[in-house]
Amino acid sequence: MYRRRKIALRDSLLSRYSETLGEMMMRRRNEVAMKAARVESELANRTKSAFLATMSHELKTPLNSIIGFSDVIQSLKDGPQAQAQSAEYAGHIAKSGRRLLEVVNDVLDISKIESGSFLLNRQPTDLLDVADAAVEIIRGAILAKEQALDVRLPNDLPMLEVDGKRIKQILVNLLSNANKFTPERGRIAFVAMRSQGGGVTFAVADTGCGMSNDEIAVALKPFGQVQGHLSRTQEGTGLGLTIALGLARKHGGDIKIDSKPGTGTTVFLTLPPDGKSAA
Ligand SMILES: Nc1ncnc2c1ncn2[C@@H]1O[C@H](COP(=O)(O)OP(=O)(O)O)[C@@H](O)[C@H]1O
Ligand SMILES: [Mg+2]
Repeated sequence: MYRRRKIALRDSLLSRYSETLGEMMMRRRNEVAMKAARVESELANRTKSAFLATMSHELKTPLNSIIGFSDVIQSLKDGPQAQAQSAEYAGHIAKSGRRLLEVVNDVLDISKIESGSFLLNRQPTDLLDVADAAVEIIRGAILAKEQALDVRLPNDLPMLEVDGKRIKQILVNLLSNANKFTPERGRIAFVAMRSQGGGVTFAVADTGCGMSNDEIAVALKPFGQVQGHLSRTQEGTGLGLTIALGLARKHGGDIKIDSKPGTGTTVFLTLPPDGKSAA
C-alpha cells in the first residue's frame, strides 16, 4: 500500500517535472525564434534606411539639376549668348542624366546579383584591353585631383573567358574609389599580374584615408559607406564594392581588401585561369 502510494507520487512528480521542462523548452525556443526575427527585421530596417537615405540623395541631386537647368534654358532670351549658355546647361543636364542612369543600373545589378538571376556574357577576352579601357574612363578624374597614377600592365596577360564589360565595371569602381578616397596629389597604382595557375590578379593601391577591418566589413555591405570618409560629399550609392564582389564571385574569382586607416588601401581582384572555376 505504502509502496504503491510512493510509486504514484514519484510518477506524478516525474510527469509534472517533464511537463514543466517541456514548457520551459518551448518558451526558450520561442524566445530564441523571436530574438532571431527581431535581429533580422532590425537588419532589414537598417538596410532600408540606408537605402532610402542614399537613394533620395543620389536621385534628387541629378534630378534637381536636370529640372533647374531645363527651366533656365526655357527662360533664356534669344541671341548668341543664349545659344552658348544653352549648350553649357545642356552639358550639365546630360551629365546628370548619365549619373541617374548609373544609379539605376547599380540598383538593377545588385537586385539581380542578390536574387541569383545575374547572367554573364562570357567571351575570350584580352584583359589588357579591358584594363586600358578602365584607366581611360577614370583618367580625367585622376587628372582633376592631380593624383599620380602608376599603371603597370604586362603585355603577356592571358586571354580569359570572362564578361569583359563586367570586369571593366569592377576595375572602374576600384579605380574610382581610389580616386575619390585619396586626397589631391596622392598616389594611385594599378597593377596586373599573371597568377601561378594561369589566372590574373589586378591590384589597385592608393595613399588615401584607408579603412579599419570593421570599416572594410561596412564597405562591402550593400549601401555601406564608411562614416567620416566624406562619402556623402562624393558621388556614390555605396553599392560599387558589393556589386564588384558579386561579379568577381560570379566569375569564380574574389575581391580582397588590405587597408590601414590613414595609410591607404589596396584592393585585389583575382580571376581564375578559365574564369569559371569554383563558381
Ligand atoms: N580605396 C578606398 N579608400 C578608402 N575608403 C574606401 C575605398 N574604397 C571604398 N571605400 C569606402 O567604402 C565605401 C563603399 O564603397 P563603394 O561600395 O564603392 O561605394 P561608393 O563608391 O558608391 O561610396 C565608400 O563609400 C568608402 O567609404
Ligand atoms: Mg565606389
